[in-house]
Amino acid sequence: MRMSLLRVQNPLRVARIFFAMATPLAGASVVATSAAAQLPAAEYAERRAALVSALDDGVILALGSREPVPDFLPYHQSSPFNYLTGFQEPGASLVIVKRGGNVREMLFVRASDPAQEVWTGPRVGVGGVRPAYGMEGRDAALLTVALDSLLKSGGKLHVIGQVGGRMTERTPNQQFIDALVATNPAIEVSDARRAVDALRGRKSPAELDRLRIAAEISARGHLAAMRAIVPGIAEFEVQAVAEYTWRREGGDGPAYSSIVGSGPNTTTLHYNRNTRVSADGELMLMDMATFFDGYSADITRTVPVNGRFTAAQREIYAVVLAAQQAAERQIRVGGPARAMTDSATAVLRSGLTRLGLIESAEAMYDCGSATRPRECAQLSLFYMHGLGHGIGLDVHDPDQYTTTGMIGVGSAFTIEPGVYVRGNILDIIPDSPRNRALKTRIAPAVARYADIGVRIEDDYLVTSDGVIRASAGVPREIDEIEAVMALPRTPRDPAVVERYLRFKTGR
Ligand code: GLY
Ligand code: MN
Ligand code: MN
Repeated sequence: MRMSLLRVQNPLRVARIFFAMATPLAGASVVATSAAAQLPAAEYAERRAALVSALDDGVILALGSREPVPDFLPYHQSSPFNYLTGFQEPGASLVIVKRGGNVREMLFVRASDPAQEVWTGPRVGVGGVRPAYGMEGRDAALLTVALDSLLKSGGKLHVIGQVGGRMTERTPNQQFIDALVATNPAIEVSDARRAVDALRGRKSPAELDRLRIAAEISARGHLAAMRAIVPGIAEFEVQAVAEYTWRREGGDGPAYSSIVGSGPNTTTLHYNRNTRVSADGELMLMDMATFFDGYSADITRTVPVNGRFTAAQREIYAVVLAAQQAAERQIRVGGPARAMTDSATAVLRSGLTRLGLIESAEAMYDCGSATRPRECAQLSLFYMHGLGHGIGLDVHDPDQYTTTGMIGVGSAFTIEPGVYVRGNILDIIPDSPRNRALKTRIAPAVARYADIGVRIEDDYLVTSDGVIRASAGVPREIDEIEAVMALPRTPRDPAVVERYLRFKTGR
């Protein structure tokens, strides 16, 4: 929690009242530590140097995240800013001036404020910047004055931080840049986010280490969840077991909202309410992972609630697993990332044709409307997302393959094929003569596989010593999952779900 229970005019006065009521801890010493950077200062300096050499002369401005507006939300530093500085406090900005071979780096931070620090902990303060971050420290209150002075004669302003995108409202950062332009109309503003993304796509050994640990801890959370699942368990119980396990092992906490879906919820890609109670014979899809030291894993497993896959579940699962393994075989340093997608897609197409869910590997259907006719691959009725993405400071992080098309040392990414058979898929397909024929042909398969959603997602790290599947600690083969789920179940209290249902449904 970053703020007080009540935001008040005079925080120090309320703090005194609070502490007057609290029992002092005899002999306890208070060690003032602000949130430290994750990596050695030299690594951040190297990243900044690489950015500077990629950009033309001018002023580089990276804006950090502001204090969250509503109270009680956790603070999360802007990832590009974090990448360049490691600085973890709100309201900071990085200014780098590059002119004719000279480079000056300044980190603008909130000044020390002992009264506020009572609530939010010690600040680095202006004087703390140089020793810990290797840059000139400046007061954030003076940022605009400093920028106006640097930009008054024009030149390039390379901006990093929530200034692009398709939002209709101007973000606070955009408004800040608008004001700079109004005062200094001769400047030429460019979005330097892509240059940072290109650097972020190649992870250093220190980053790969953190990603490996994030994936290992996340996998242990999955394993604990798997061992707890029984028919009648609520989705939130499964989520709780995993999240508890990560935190016990030093994970920072969920890297994204945990997705724990049972039965029909397995077919909703971003389901994260996690409120349903599972039933015998269903699947449970768990897409959940932790950050570790700021770096995010991303793992999905899909398991039968009662520990044994039905024949229909097994058939879908085997296709998804084969697709993942086909993609995995294409991981090669210097090889095209496209090969992973192509091989997984080929397996999914032939697998779903065999199961009768699509008419043939290349078959299309009418996905537009009467006024805007369009056709789409039938595969997209059951597999509608990409094969994977980079992981890093963000769960969806840049990977070098997004810039270069090629996998390389320092690549870190997921492979996560899925098949989702929504019970009402036939109602979703638009009406047309071609689609009517399709619906008739696939109706029996849709009935057989209805409410089966399977995604399998693992994390791959390309190190100088080879490729690691860092999430391998949680099984993905059918027989291995069934073996784990045949072990004694983790004890739980069924009264929890009974009470929950009494309140939620009146049952
Ligand atoms: N958990 C989000 C994703 O798999 O991309
Ligand atoms: Mn993912
Ligand atoms: Mn995921």
